[in-house]
Formats: sequence, structure tokens, C-alpha cells
Amino acid sequence: MSKKADLIVGLQWGDEGKGKIVDHMAQTHDYVCRFAGGHNAGHTIVVGDKKYALHLIPSGILNPKGKNIVGNGVVLSPVDFIKEMSQFDNLEDRLFISDKAHMLLPYHALIDQARERMKGDKAIGTTGKGIGPAYGDKIARVGHRMGELHDTEKLATKIVDFFEVNRAIFEVMGVPIPVKDELKVELDGYAKVLAPYIVDTTQLIWRVLDDDKRVLLEGAQGTMLDIDHGTYPYVTSSTTVSAGACAGLGLNPKDLGKVTGIAKAYCTRVGNGPFPSEDFGEDGELLRKNGHEFGTTTGRPRRCGWFDAVAMRHAVRVNGVDQVALMKLDVLDGFPEIKVCVAYEIEGKEIDYVPYDLEEATAVYKTFKGWDKTEGCRVFDELPQTAKDYIEALEEMIGTKMGIISTSPDREDTIIR
Ligand code: GDP
Ligand code: IMO
Ligand code: MG
Repeated sequence: MSKKADLIVGLQWGDEGKGKIVDHMAQTHDYVCRFAGGHNAGHTIVVGDKKYALHLIPSGILNPKGKNIVGNGVVLSPVDFIKEMSQFDNLEDRLFISDKAHMLLPYHALIDQARERMKGDKAIGTTGKGIGPAYGDKIARVGHRMGELHDTEKLATKIVDFFEVNRAIFEVMGVPIPVKDELKVELDGYAKVLAPYIVDTTQLIWRVLDDDKRVLLEGAQGTMLDIDHGTYPYVTSSTTVSAGACAGLGLNPKDLGKVTGIAKAYCTRVGNGPFPSEDFGEDGELLRKNGHEFGTTTGRPRRCGWFDAVAMRHAVRVNGVDQVALMKLDVLDGFPEIKVCVAYEIEGKEIDYVPYDLEEATAVYKTFKGWDKTEGCRVFDELPQTAKDYIEALEEMIGTKMGIISTSPDREDTIIR
């Protein structure tokens, strides 16, 4: 029987701290694989006084012996990928890109931004990177896969033909029609750098698992941003939940091993859409300040609020979470009281599940006593009693053990229970 792949997924609205835990676990895994999303993701890793922000390259890259796969479920911007590669040496033989991953080209970003402008106050608040249009083209079967970089003449012709057919739409959106020769030069530039890395990653990951290697699957975004299970239409365009790991890499459900769900000890969201436990007052400000809650990808201030146990139960079930990693506990240090959303109220009625539409939901809270300091703590028993009480109450509410607790951005400040 082949080895099973361990999985890491975000349980909230993204930015839970996945990068830190992937990097931590990558030290004991041979391969780290991204399966969804694009460079809308921003995964931060802090090692000593060095800080890395990864968008497309898997967070296993900081493990010098580790190998990294970008799966077919990812939408890959060649220009951004090449920029990101330049931070690292010796990538050959430790970075592999699926030939089936869809290409995100600069026009996708222009379309994304034009659509957001046209939506006005109904805008999703996307990262503007072109994620929706790239996945849209994939599903509409007019996208282009990384394998097509092997014949840039043919690819350039296909892209220009597509623009010709849809000329009127692109003109309304202000997206320039590419000139074939210029486009070919651009694509040749991508092909020159990326061709050595483009392989059949489905065969590769099967082989790796059959050889009993340890594989870690790195989710991007979070459950509440999932295209089906999040707060549609204020979501991203990919399957961010566990199931996406199978389709996004060519695995079957039996290939999946332990699922670690990542959640902050409070909650944030960047972009628009419902967020029942958002705090618009001083506490929300303080969470933003103490947690440095500004987007890794766009620099936008993140909206802040309290841990949402209802959304978390939904996320635990949909992802099949075995253990939760509770992140940024230290950000709650010094709060005299800490709130947790334990139910939603909609039109005067209390519910304990995530409904079809969260727009009208307000949070029903339970309040916990705060603590002085958890920052830098590495042993569970050394946490203040009220912090332990908080964690144990959350475990009870979501029915899952919190096997990892994080108390600072640093790789080492991590409690393993
Ligand atoms: P990701 O997208 O899920 O990988 O998360 P981001 O990297 O976008 O955002 C998480 C931020 O929190 C990063 O700046 C991390 O360095 C930081 N971080 C992670 N864990 C902790 C923690 O336990 N405490 C504090 N204070 N910061 C943390
Ligand atoms: P990581 O992997 C937080 C949000 C955007 C917007 C919505 C749609 O770092 O957790 P998109 O550009 O994907 O079409 O935008 O999704 N979003 C994220 N929010 N963390 C992310 O990734 C995100 N990726 C997308 O802010 O609300
Ligand atoms: Mg992030």
C-alpha cells in the first residue's frame, strides 16, 4: 500500500497562518504540493530574522532537502512565478510544475480589475490578480495549460484568435488585443525559464507515494472562501477545501492522510462579503494592530473580529479535519475579555449552522476571561490557565482537538501537544 499524503487547509477566510505550519511540517516531509489557487495567496514564513512571502511556490521551499510540486489545480502566472523563483537557488530537481496547470496571463488580471470596477459597490474585493478570469477560462474550456509553452507559436495563435472572436467584449473592458509577434516573444521568455520544470506531476506524485515518501499538501485561501462552501459570491474561484487536493493533484480520496486545519484564535477577512463576528470597534482595531493584519499580497487592512465557532464546525466537517492548529494566540494577550461567536441570529431566530446566505446573520457571543501573556510560549502547560480554558472551550465547541498552538510568527514558537 502506498503512503498517504498529509493535508493542510485554511478553516476561515484565509491568512490563518498556513505558511508557518506548512514550513514547520515541511521539515519532516519529502514533498510539499500546492493544489489550488494562484498568486492571490500570500503565505508568510519567518525563520529567525528572515521573512519570506510565498505566493505560488510551495512553502516547503525553505527546507533545502524538500521537493515542491505545483499541481494541476493551481492557476499559474508565469511572470509572477519567475519573479518568485529568483529569491531561491538550486531549484532544479526540487521544483515541479504540472503540465496541466492553467496559465494565468496578464490579460486575466486586466479583466479581473475591469469586472471589479464595473461591479461598483457590489465588487468582491478580489486581489485583482486575475484569478476568477483564469479559472473561468479553464471551466469554459478556453484556457491554456502550462504544457502549451512547449509550442509558443501555436499558443500565441490560439490566444490571438480567441481575442479576435471576443474583440467587442475586450474593447468594452479596455483590455488591449495582443499583437501576435509581441505575445510570442513574451511566451518564449516564459518558456525559456519554466520549460525545465514542467512535468506530468500526476505521475510524479503517484510514484512518490508508492515509494513511501512523505508528502504534504498545502492548501491556499480558506474554507469560507471556497467556491461552493464559502460565502458565495464573495469567495475565490477555486475549491479550497480538502476535496480540492484530490482534483488539484490527481490523487484519490484514499491517498489522503492526516488533515490539519489552520485557524486563528480570532478571525479576519480581507475583501468584501459577510463576516458575522466582525468587530467594528476598538477591539477590532486592536486585533488589527497587534496581529499586523495587513494583506501579504495586496497590503490591504484585514477586517478583524472574533473566533466564529459556527463557521469552524462547518469547516471541520467539510474538510474532515483531524486536528486544528490554533494560530496567533499571542495576539489576544492583554485583552481583558475575549468573545467567541457561538450561534448566528437571523430574523430573530438563533441557528447553529452556516446557512445558504450569511448576509443577514449577526453573531451571538459567549465571553471568556483573558490573560496576560502567551507570546513565545512553547509548552502547553506553561500557558496561563485562562488561555488553556479558552482553548479547551473551543475544542469542545468544534469537537476537534487543537494539536498545535502557535504563539509567534517564528517557526520555533509552536506548541505541539
Ligand atoms: P497564510 O496565508 O495562511 O499563510 O497566512 P499569512 O502569511 O497571510 O498571514 C499570517 C500572518 O501571521 C503572517 O504574517 C505570519 O508571520 C503571522 N503569524 C503566523 N503565526 C503567528 C502567531 O502565532 N503569532 C503571530 N503574532 N503571528 C503569526
Ligand atoms: P491565503 O492563501 C485571504 C480573497 C480576496 C477576495 C476573494 C476573491 O494567503 O490565505 P480573488 O483574487 O481570489 O478572486 O479574490 O478572496 N482572497 C484571500 N483572502 N487570503 C488569501 O489567500 C486569499 N486569496 C483570495 O481578498 O476577498
Ligand atoms: Mg495569506
